[in-house]
Amino acid sequence: MTDTAILDATRSQRLKAATRDSHNALDKRIMAGDIFASRAQFARFLRVQYRFHRDIEALYANPELDALLPDLDERRRLPQIARDLADLEQALPAPAASAVPAPLPLPAALGWLYVAEGSNLGGTILFKMAARLGLDAGFGARHLAAHPDGAARHWREFTAALDSVALTSEQEQQMIDAADAAFRSVHGHVELEFA
Ligand code: HEM
Repeated sequence: MTDTAILDATRSQRLKAATRDSHNALDKRIMAGDIFASRAQFARFLRVQYRFHRDIEALYANPELDALLPDLDERRRLPQIARDLADLEQALPAPAASAVPAPLPLPAALGWLYVAEGSNLGGTILFKMAARLGLDAGFGARHLAAHPDGAARHWREFTAALDSVALTSEQEQQMIDAADAAFRSVHGHVELEFA
């Protein structure tokens, strides 16, 4: 984005632009892990998702986020990821301290949630690819299934909320830094699982 385009962009567009490099690096690293080579390989990806979504569990009980997004609780995907792992007869990863600092101010909470919600967009592609392993919304790839309203619409409801919050430029930077930290943290989980 040019400087003028950045000024004209919505907050969610600015956030996307600011985290493009860390997102691309993560996508590439995951796909290099050949997660559709076998169910065992896909289970590694599920463990990455489990660790990430376990890290952000506290977000779904955050009252400020809840006031902003009426369906916040329904956006949780940890239970579906746990069921996907159980479908593949995989144990859950061992307990570990959360990578998310607590308590999290609203701008930072938005940054972490952005990464979780956005991953549903790439998730729709992964969902289609998971079919080749015989996985679907009822077995093994439950957490990647699109929301019944459609992934795009569900995403737009989230970005509309994100764009509507009043934030100072410092707070917006806090949100960007948190999203970047979230991407890096997921990347760390990938390195651990695919080492
Ligand atoms: C857990 C891992 C992942 C996370 C956390 C993640 C995160 C995100 C985020 C935050 C967005 C929203 C970007 C926006 O603001 O529009 C997004 C979109 C997207 N992601 Fe990823 N992603 C992940 C894995 C992947 C993988 C493995 C792929 C496949 C190569 C992928 C491909 C995409 C695509 C195609 C989009 C849609 C871009 C668009 O419609 O503009 N993602 N992802």
